Amino acid sequence: MFTILKKGRMYIISGTASESIARDLSKKLKVPLAKTITKRFPDQELYVRIMDDIENEEIIIVQTTYPDPNIIELFLIQNAVVEADADKITTVIPYYGYARQDTMFKKGEAISAKVLAELIGLNSDRVITVDPHKEYILDFFKTEAYSCTAVPSIAKYLKKKNLDMVLAPDKGALNRAKTASEIINCDFDYMEKTRIDGETVEIKPKNLDVENKNVGIIDDIISTGGTMAKSIKELRKQKAKKIFVSCTHGLFADQAIKKLNSSGCDEIISTDTIENDYSKVEIAPAILELIKQ
Ligand code: R5P
Repeated sequence: MFTILKKGRMYIISGTASESIARDLSKKLKVPLAKTITKRFPDQELYVRIMDDIENEEIIIVQTTYPDPNIIELFLIQNAVVEADADKITTVIPYYGYARQDTMFKKGEAISAKVLAELIGLNSDRVITVDPHKEYILDFFKTEAYSCTAVPSIAKYLKKKNLDMVLAPDKGALNRAKTASEIINCDFDYMEKTRIDGETVEIKPKNLDVENKNVGIIDDIISTGGTMAKSIKELRKQKAKKIFVSCTHGLFADQAIKKLNSSGCDEIISTDTIENDYSKVEIAPAILELIKQ
C-alpha cells in the first residue's frame, strides 16, 4: 500500500496518550523514539518540545485523539515537527475520537469527524487509524488515510477462552463477529439492537442458541457500556455459560465497568488504543502490518 522506510533516519514521536503503542512500534521497527518534553503551564495550557534534531527525518507521530486534551497535544506535536523541518509525517491515531458524529443527523449540527480529519490532515502526509467507527470517515481526510483492524488480534485472545459463539451487538457489526468466528472456529450471530439516544439502547430478545455455551461479544467501542450490559442481560436470560465482552476501543465512560460487571459478564477485554486496565490486546502488530505492506 505504501512504503514507509526510506534510506535515511526515522523517528517515532509519542503523544502522552499512546506511549505503549509508540514504544512497541519503536521496538518492532527498530526506529528510535524521539525525546520530547510535555508540560502544562499553571493555567493548564500545554507546552511541547522535541529534543532530538529531526530535520529532514521521516516521522511517525502516535497519539489517540481522546479525551479532548490529547487532540491539542497532537496538534502541538505536529506543529513542532513541521517547524523542525522534518521530512514525511505519518500520524497514527490509534483511537480516532469524534468519529461517531460523522454526518449532520439534525440540521445545524457540526460534523465532528470531518472537523478533526481536516485539522489533523493539515500537518500530516498520511494518517493511519484503527477500526474507525465507519470506514468512510477516512474520506474526510484531504491527505492519504488508511485503517487497520484489531479484530484478528482480539479473536486470537478470545480463542483461548473456548468460545462456542461470537456475537455482534447489532446487525451492522456482523462482519466483525464473522471474521472473529473464522479465527476462533466457532459460530457467529448478532443481536437486535436499536439505539434510542446517545445513552440508551434497546436489545430485543432473539433466540440465539447460547444455552450452556461460552459466548464472546465483539464491538468497535464500549462507551457507557449500555449496549454490552443489555446484551449480557439478554444472554444471561437465555442461560449462556460464560460471557466475554470485547472491543477495540475501551472508553469505559461513567460507570461502564460497574455496569458490565453487575450485568454478569465474566471478562472485559479491550486493546490499548486507549490505555486502561482492560488493555489486554496489543494493537501495535496490526498497525505494523499496515505500515509494512
Ligand atoms: C455503536 O454503533 C458502536 O458500535 C457501539 O456499539 C457503541 O458506541 C457503544 O456505546 P455504549 O457503550 O455507550 O452503548
